[in-house]
Formats: sequence, C-alpha cells, structure tokens
Amino acid sequence: MPISLLQLSDLHIPPPGTRAQSALKNGRSPTDGLQAAITYALSMRVQWTAALLSGDLVDRGSAEEYRLLRQALAPLEKRMPLYFCLGNHDSRNGFRAVFNDFWSAHAGDDSSFLQYQVPLGQGQRLVVLDTLWEGSDVGRLCSERLDWLETALHSARGEQVILALHHPPFVFGNTIFDAMAVKERAELAKVLARHPQVERLICGHLHRTMLASLAGRPVISAPSTFHAYGMDHAEDHRSGVDNEAPGFAFHQWQQDCGWLSHTVSLRQVRSVH
Ligand SMILES: [Fe+2]
Repeated sequence: MPISLLQLSDLHIPPPGTRAQSALKNGRSPTDGLQAAITYALSMRVQWTAALLSGDLVDRGSAEEYRLLRQALAPLEKRMPLYFCLGNHDSRNGFRAVFNDFWSAHAGDDSSFLQYQVPLGQGQRLVVLDTLWEGSDVGRLCSERLDWLETALHSARGEQVILALHHPPFVFGNTIFDAMAVKERAELAKVLARHPQVERLICGHLHRTMLASLAGRPVISAPSTFHAYGMDHAEDHRSGVDNEAPGFAFHQWQQDCGWLSHTVSLRQVRSVH
C-alpha cells in the first residue's frame, strides 16, 4: 500500500459572517472550497495516510476562525491524522487557542514555533517547518528554526524525508511574491546539502502549482482550496485573483516509484453571492 499524503493549502477560512479578503475580488467562498476539497478527496479510491494543511489555514488569525476551521475539518479528522503548518495569514496565539492539543503533542508546550516531525511509515518521515514571521507576509527561518531542522534531520538519518513549509523557498520573477519567499533560502539550501535524505519539499502560499528546486531537491507548491493566483509578469507585477480553478495536491510514495506528486483541480466550487 503506498503512502498517500493529502495536502490542502491556503484555506483562508474567514471570521463567521465575513468573506476572506481576496474573495472580494472573485466571489469564491473559502469554506465551500475546503468542503469541496474534502468531499472530493474522501471520494477518491485512495487509502489516505494523513493530511497536511500547509498554512494560511484561516484568513486573519482569530480564534473564532480556527474554531470554524476545526468544525470544517471534522469529516477529514475522522478519517486520517491531520498535520498543520502555519502561514502568513495565521497567528500562533489564535491557532493555540483552538489547537493547543495539537501544538503540545507535536511541537511541545515550550516551543515558540510549530515545527515537528512525524513518521509516515515505510521509512518515510514528514518534517514540518514554521516560516511564519508574525506581522509580516515574508517567510523567515531564523537560526533557532534552522538549528532545529539540522537536529531533526540528523536524528532522521536512515529515513527519507518530505519537508513541508508554507512559504516557497524560491522566486519566479514576480515582485510581490518574490518579496515574500523564504528569505533564508540560501541557508536552508546549506542544511539540505548536508542531508541528502530530504527527497522533496512541499509548500503553499502561491495558490497555484509550481515545480522548482532547491539544493537539487524538487519543490512543489500546492494550489489553494480557496482560489488561484494567475501567473503575472505584467509591468506592474501585480498578481491578481483570476478565474483559474482552486484545487489541492497529494503526494504518494511506494517502494518502486519513490515520491510522486499530483494536483487536482476543483472546478465546481460554489461562489458567494
Ligand atoms: Fe494564501
């Protein structure tokens, strides 16, 4: 049986009775998008190992948004373990107000960051990094977080690692998004160079599928369950919300194939009127 890791990203669940900020531009409902992704994923004939929620779990970081999120995730939580990663729209306090059980079990009560590692079976391990820098949209990996990663990868020698983070550790020529990419990507690449067992990196934030590389490892950005950002190299470099479909990703590992990544497009997401 392959390992099948579902990745739902950039959910942007807004406060009750409001819309997510970018919904003002395209009218999509983040709650409907999440529900559509969950319904479709659970209808697939795939034996899911776990689900990773790769940041921008909610839109503004309030506890009430995380409460809504927890309710919305209940059907998924019944079927598989959920693993969380924080993005620039998240807040650690808001997350901990509702998911402190998760924080304690995985990062530990005294940790300042939501970083942890979990075995997926068959010699595969998921390592989750925290790139949130509260008050900014930029992805950061301070020395404390990089040191943690070095230690975690050292302890995971002999296993293969899929490394998850919210912000992309790459740029693609868009001024707005490039300014938010992980600032310490060169330092991250140095850590990876010492740990060849990291097979691939998975991230979110870009709200579209991209395949890049860092230190010779593939980096895959997952689509958002809420909306897509159109590719935009226009003169003003403003990447707006457009009519591409939202979606989700999943990653499978089996002995003969190694890690394979898939994306699914969700075309039938209802709009808010
Ligand atoms: Fe996002």
